[in-house]
Amino acid sequence: MSEPILELRGINKSFGPVHVLHDIDFDVHPGQVTALVGDNGAGKSTLVKCIAGIHPTDSGQVLFNGEEVHIHGPRDAAHLGIEVVYQDLALCDNLDIVQNMFLGRERGKFGMLDEADMEQAARKTLTSLSVRTVKSVRTQVASLSGGQRQTVAIAKAVLWNSKVVLLDEPTAALGVAQTRQVLDLVRRLAEQGLGVVLISHNMNDVFEVADRIACLYLGRMAAEVNTKDVTHGQVVELITAGRSGDLGIARPETATI
Ligand SMILES: Nc1ncnc2c1ncn2[C@@H]1O[C@H](COP(=O)(O)OP(=O)(O)OP(=O)(O)O)[C@@H](O)[C@H]1O
Ligand SMILES: [Mg+2]
Repeated sequence: MSEPILELRGINKSFGPVHVLHDIDFDVHPGQVTALVGDNGAGKSTLVKCIAGIHPTDSGQVLFNGEEVHIHGPRDAAHLGIEVVYQDLALCDNLDIVQNMFLGRERGKFGMLDEADMEQAARKTLTSLSVRTVKSVRTQVASLSGGQRQTVAIAKAVLWNSKVVLLDEPTAALGVAQTRQVLDLVRRLAEQGLGVVLISHNMNDVFEVADRIACLYLGRMAAEVNTKDVTHGQVVELITAGRSGDLGIARPETATI
């Protein structure tokens, strides 16, 4: 297997007196989809926000391409090529697709916005991801469906030569057909060589697209396994009990927060 592009070692994170992440080790490999699963409140979104530089960590190491890095904010993460699509999509309804994709990182020439250049780049990215459901890149985001919005948010994340894309429950609010489109898109990102992290509560989605599954239980990494080595039942047990057979935390009952 390839070397991980992103490695977390012994990450701890507390919010005041509440210890949310305990000694988390987590690897993301290029060209693979790693599913990050766990019950509500297990710490999935917090872990993603630590990687993205939204939350400072209390201790632990982050390695990118084998070298230790210090991510102090979203800009540091973006500079490394780490992009996040958040659970609550950060798109602006009143802007069109191009404006959303370049928000805060607009391209310009001679003090003017280079609209044609941005429009072309937006179209190229959507085409490279085989997105065909969006008719025009000048469509206002307000008029897009949930699936189309998710697609724009993901395309926005890969527009910047990203190396790692973290998706926090991208299919949670979607219907069957739109979920299909987003899962296809997730696979294509990995096929393009990106390291993809997919947070999902849907075991069917996880087993369909993930190469590896990392399971958080009460803020601890209970197991990181190859999808082909486990059953749905085992993963559900890891999520709900922190342990399944030989897998998981030795004494999950002691893992309290
Ligand atoms: N900003 C914050 N301040 C204080 N506590 C927080 C904060 N963010 C998260 N928490 C706590 O950290 C724990 C983990 O939350 P987190 O949002 O990471 O869970 P999650 O695994 O993403 O859950 P879900 O599946 O419901 O999205 C929860 O107990 C939550 O209350
Ligand atoms: Mg969450």
